[in-house]
Amino acid sequence: MKKNIVAGNWKMNMNLDEGKKLAEEVSGMIRKKPLKAINGSPDVIFFTPFIHLVDVSKIIEGLDGVGVGAQNCYSKPSGAFTGEVSASMIKSTGAGHVLVGHSERRSLFNENNKMLAAKASVAVENGLNVVFCCGETLEERENSRHFDVVRNQLREGLFWMDNKSFSNAVIAYEPVWAIGTGVTASPEQAQEMHAFIRDLVNEKYGNQIAQDTTILYGGSCNPKNANQLFQQEDVDGGLVGGASLKAGDFFKIIQSF
Ligand code: 13P
Repeated sequence: MKKNIVAGNWKMNMNLDEGKKLAEEVSGMIRKKPLKAINGSPDVIFFTPFIHLVDVSKIIEGLDGVGVGAQNCYSKPSGAFTGEVSASMIKSTGAGHVLVGHSERRSLFNENNKMLAAKASVAVENGLNVVFCCGETLEERENSRHFDVVRNQLREGLFWMDNKSFSNAVIAYEPVWAIGTGVTASPEQAQEMHAFIRDLVNEKYGNQIAQDTTILYGGSCNPKNANQLFQQEDVDGGLVGGASLKAGDFFKIIQSF
């Protein structure tokens, strides 16, 4: 079944105390107004820095529909990779999800589709649900290459999965030009790309899985624009950066369906 999801990507923000406070604030709001009672009954995921995973997992314990995930994992299962964090380590914290292929990882850390496929693969082997990010740059859109770019990212990074693994994956469309810029894709632009992505899933995995796949929008999503974006037929929620760092704003977005 397709789920609506609102996920917060904290990126490299919040020290441990600040992060715990933020998770406690949002959790408190959800305790008062359970997700099931909210339009669209969205699930909520906190993508925190690694060091918060254990504490945030404890904070959300017992809250229906709320999960925690990491923003990255390494592409190998274990070994002499100083400074890296493995999928099994992430899983052992209580986290259930991992972001793979965020555009900041692609552009700042040179992660290519092949590497991302390897990361998604160890994540799946360790029982983590992958939220796979894709999206074009402004230049690529201006040259009408956005559909080709997204198709390629998905084919090379994600579509190696078998039906069973893919059923637990979520796709996040994040146009690079909309990330952290205050410029949001229009609801029509988001819908157009989301429908295109669902068609690609249909071609590869068939109609049932395509209908069941959650496709999130990310890129300057905020309490003002979330409702219009989430109203689009193929937009099943959001991956929220900046606005997920303020409990009140994030909770407003959670209630935007
Ligand atoms: P902003 O919401 O800050 O634009 O970030 C989006 C994002 O990158 C989420 O992963």
